[in-house]
Amino acid sequence: MELKYFYKNRIHFQLAFLMFLFVSCKHDIGKLPKPISGNSNTVVISECGDLSVVSYSTQIQPIINLKCVSCHDASTGIKLYNYPNLVLYANSGQLVGCLNGNGSYLQMPPTGSLDSCTIKIIASWVQQGKLNN
Ligand code: HEC
Repeated sequence: MELKYFYKNRIHFQLAFLMFLFVSCKHDIGKLPKPISGNSNTVVISECGDLSVVSYSTQIQPIINLKCVSCHDASTGIKLYNYPNLVLYANSGQLVGCLNGNGSYLQMPPTGSLDSCTIKIIASWVQQGKLNN
């Protein structure tokens, strides 16, 4: 008789404990940090400088000249040395795809990926409509 009572109470206790876990977990979810507010531009500005309007002539072309044109000049199959040719590869998705080295495209440069801010500069330029500015 006493043993039965003990087990009955134990089940009550276990149920109460489960409820407690459930409630405390729900409570924890409420305490998770909120996502960083502001749009993606705000985040980019703080990490890599002002990327609000990326310039082809002062930012993109110098990067491409320095990092890509040794293998992609006017004499090669994939030409990246001037604006109209670079835009072809930006439009196809190959330009940003190869910088990210995600497996769908060859990793470029083949010797190792550019630093993350340089990739962001190029990706922002593409996102902003590949301005010839
Ligand atoms: C050391 C030489 C070398 C450098 C530097 C280099 N590439 Fe390449 N790239 C190649 C070779 C080789 C291929 C293979 C295709 C081809 O050229 O025929 C290629 C292919 C590509 C392709 C096509 C990739 C695909 O999978 O469709 C793109 C786009 C490209 N390169 C962009 C770049 C960019 C942008 C840079 C600079 C950040 C760069 N490359 C730097 C040698 C190079």
